[in-house]
Amino acid sequence: MADPQETMNPYEGFKLLRDHAPVTQLEADGPWQVARHADVHAILRDHETFSSEVSIRPPEERGAPSMLFSDPPIHNRLRKLVSVAFKPGQIQLQEQQIRSRCNALLDAMPTDTELDLVQALAAPLPVMVIAEMLGVEDGDMATFKAWSDEIFSNIGEILFGTPSAESERAAQEMNAYFLQRINDIRRHPKEHLLGQLVATETEDGKLDDEELLSFCRLLLIAGNETTTGLITASARIFHEETDTLIQLKQNPQLAKNFVEEALRFYSPFSATVRRTTKDVEIAGQAIAAGELVIPLLASANRDERVFEAPDTFRLDRSPNPHLGLGFGIHVCLGAHLARLEGKIVVEQMAERYRGIELVNAQATTVGELGGPKSLAVRLR
Ligand code: HEM
Repeated sequence: MADPQETMNPYEGFKLLRDHAPVTQLEADGPWQVARHADVHAILRDHETFSSEVSIRPPEERGAPSMLFSDPPIHNRLRKLVSVAFKPGQIQLQEQQIRSRCNALLDAMPTDTELDLVQALAAPLPVMVIAEMLGVEDGDMATFKAWSDEIFSNIGEILFGTPSAESERAAQEMNAYFLQRINDIRRHPKEHLLGQLVATETEDGKLDDEELLSFCRLLLIAGNETTTGLITASARIFHEETDTLIQLKQNPQLAKNFVEEALRFYSPFSATVRRTTKDVEIAGQAIAAGELVIPLLASANRDERVFEAPDTFRLDRSPNPHLGLGFGIHVCLGAHLARLEGKIVVEQMAERYRGIELVNAQATTVGELGGPKSLAVRLR
């Protein structure tokens, strides 16, 4: 039987927090979680007071800094060097390839029988897309996915503790693989993202090998499970709000709105983390310098102070100032790609199926980082 803790709807808990305890400390000396939209927004906007350098591991153990966990000026330099490759025009070039990848995965999924959506589509699609950007060859895809899973499952320990021997080994193997790739690219330039990054040179200099490797790792951490979560969230919405599938069938243009509202409704990146650089007050609560703060993005996105009928999925919601892709200097670098992948998946699902049913809607969690590890569905 499913554990009741696991089946509890976290959104009810978030509402209690927003109404009665908008800033709470998880345990004595623990991190502070922040539940309301206005406070989460203010934290994400103020990178000087709320630093992204959250790791407590000594710098010599951390390797090259990653953009997600750094502050200006390091953050500016890294972000500027890679952002060209993530501009809408560049991402759009991948559309046909993503469409055919998605089509092939859907072709292999039988209808009218139970299947695991995570295994069949939601996990492989984002891995394939990132792998392609990094020039990973088809034959290396399974190994690449295994490294990615191992590294992601250890993200907490990588930042705050001692990573497991397996995740260290996965990181080392992946580094060796990409180092070889980078050296090949230096001899024979390539068009894909990694090729562009190796070649990029701006007034901020070039990315060195360590920085390139750190960025490859970051893409896996930031871009895989989150997109998997968006795809499983979309299937859940099709199950819960059957009308949306019909509306999308009739008007595929609505796919864009669907994705935006899905990012709000079941935010796959449900929470992030910052460290205070000075004594601050959030919603009347004093927090000392050096404390960890957890902005609950998924809670902010259901805040009735900002969204009318926040617990209703509305295809026509406008404006939709959700924080599902972050805000401020760390706003999701892969936002265009995430939106494009989400749009392609929901368009193709709506085109093919007349129903998408979760086999046991209660037995899977919603609201956890990256979404469920498996999701049994029946496609009609
Ligand atoms: C639905 C899918 C996705 C969601 C919900 C999502 C969400 C987010 C959020 C909330 C942040 C900000 C974190 C913070 O401020 O601490 C972020 C940052 C980031 N995301 Fe995404 N993301 C998604 C997909 C992707 C993809 C596909 C990629 C790349 C291939 C990507 C790459 C990044 C990177 C590199 C950062 C760090 C940016 C920075 O620190 O400046 N994300 N993402």
